[in-house]
Amino acid sequence: MHNVLVTGGAGFIGSNFIRYLLQVEPEVFVVNLDALTYAGSLENLKDLPAPERYVFEQGDICSRPLVDELMRKYQIDTVVHFAAESHVDRSILGPEQFIQTNIVGTFTLLESAKQYWAESSSSPNPYQGVRFHHVSTDEVFGSLEPDDPPFSETTPYAPNSPYSASKAASDHLVRAYAHTYGLPVTITNCSNNYGPYQFPEKLIPLMILNALEGKPLPVYGDGQQIRDWLFVQDHCEAIWMVLRKGKVGETYNIGGDNQPTNLTVVQTICDILDEFVPDSPHTPHRSLIRYVTDRPGHDRRYAMDITKIRQELGWQPRHSMSEGLVKTVRWYLDNPEWVEAIRKQQDFQKWVSQNYGERRYETPQEGNR
Ligand code: NAD
Ligand code: DAU
Repeated sequence: MHNVLVTGGAGFIGSNFIRYLLQVEPEVFVVNLDALTYAGSLENLKDLPAPERYVFEQGDICSRPLVDELMRKYQIDTVVHFAAESHVDRSILGPEQFIQTNIVGTFTLLESAKQYWAESSSSPNPYQGVRFHHVSTDEVFGSLEPDDPPFSETTPYAPNSPYSASKAASDHLVRAYAHTYGLPVTITNCSNNYGPYQFPEKLIPLMILNALEGKPLPVYGDGQQIRDWLFVQDHCEAIWMVLRKGKVGETYNIGGDNQPTNLTVVQTICDILDEFVPDSPHTPHRSLIRYVTDRPGHDRRYAMDITKIRQELGWQPRHSMSEGLVKTVRWYLDNPEWVEAIRKQQDFQKWVSQNYGERRYETPQEGNR
C-alpha cells in the first residue's frame, strides 16, 4: 500500500487526479492537503470511487508543523504536489500569494519530506521506496515564435509572468533538492488542461458558462494566441505513469498535441453549444464573441514536444481536442449544482468585475466570429 500525500487535491487537476488514482489503484491510500482557497472546493470531491481509502486535511502547505505532522501521522511515502496559485491574470493583479504558496510552499514540502524520510528510514539509503513528484507547467519555458520548435525538456527556462516565474522557482528548488540531497524527485511540465471541475476563471469553462447565460465571450487581444490543450484525465494518467515508471531525477513534458488558436477554441465551444442547446435564445453563440483588451505580457504561443514521455513510458494523450471539448461542455451542462455552488462565491463575482470591468470590448468583424 502506498500512502500518497496529494497537495491541492480540492482544485481542478488535483481532484481529477484523486478520482483517477482511487479508481485505477486498489493499493493506495490518499491524503489530500488543501487550504481551500477560492480555487479549491469539496464539491469537486463528492462521490469518490473508494472513500474508505481517502482522507481530507484542510491546511496550508506553507505550515511546516502541519506538513510534518501529516507526513508522520499517515507515514507518507509519495508526495504528489499540485497545490499552487494557478491563474496568470491573478498573478498580474496580485503576485504576492504566488510567491508564498508556489515558492515557500514547495520549499516547505521539500524540507519536510527530506527530514521525515531520512529520520523514519532504517535502511542505508533513506530514500528507498519514496518519491516527491512536482507538478509544473509549460509556461516556465516562455513564449514561442510561430516557427520555433516546440518546448522540450532541455529548453531553457524563460518565464514571463509572476505565475510562471514562481513555478520556475519551485521547479529549481525541486531540482536542487535532488542534486544536493539525493531526494528522489520527478517533475512534469504540462500544457493547458481542460475538463470537468475546472474553476470558471480559466478560458474554457468561462466561455461555456458565459455563453449559456448570454454574456459576452471576452477574447484577449486578437485571439490568435496558441495553447497546447490537454484533457485533464490524460494528464492524470501521465502523472501516475511517471510515478510508476519514470526515472528518478528526470523531468517529463506532457502535452495534448492540440494547438488551435484561442479564437478557434471559443468558436468550437459556441458551435457545440448551438448543437446541445438549440433552443437557447443566445444562438448562434458565436455572436457573443468580443475582442477585449489584452493580458499584459501575454505569451503568444506554447507547444510541447512529448517525444520523451511517449518513447520512454509509452504515454500519449487519448483525447483529441474535439472529443475532449464535447465531453467538457456536456459535463458543465449536466452539473448545474456544481456550477451554481462555484458561481455563487463572492470572490468569483469580485474577480469578474476586477479582471473584466475595465477592459475595452469590441465586436469582431464578420468572418472572424
Ligand atoms: P487550481 O487553482 O484549480 O487548484 C489549486 C489548489 O491548490 C486549490 O484546491 C487550492 O485550494 C490549493 N491551494 C492553493 N494554495 C494552497 C496552499 N497554500 N496550501 C494548500 N493548498 C493550496 O489549480 P490547477 O489548475 O488544478 O493546477 C494544479 C497544478 O498544476 C498547479 O501546480 C499548476 O501550476 C499546475 N498546472 C496547471 C495547468 C492547468 O492548465 N490548469 C497546466 C499545467 C500545470
Ligand atoms: O500552460 C499551462 C498553464 O495553462 C497553467 O500553468 C496555468 O495554471 C493555467 O491557468 C493555464 O494558463 P493560461 O494563462 O494559458 O490559461 P487561461 O485559461 O487563463 O488562458 C488561456 C488562453 O486564453 C490565454 O491565451 C489567455 C486567453 N484568455 C483567457 C481568459 C481567462 C482569453 O482570451 N480570455 C479570457 O477571458
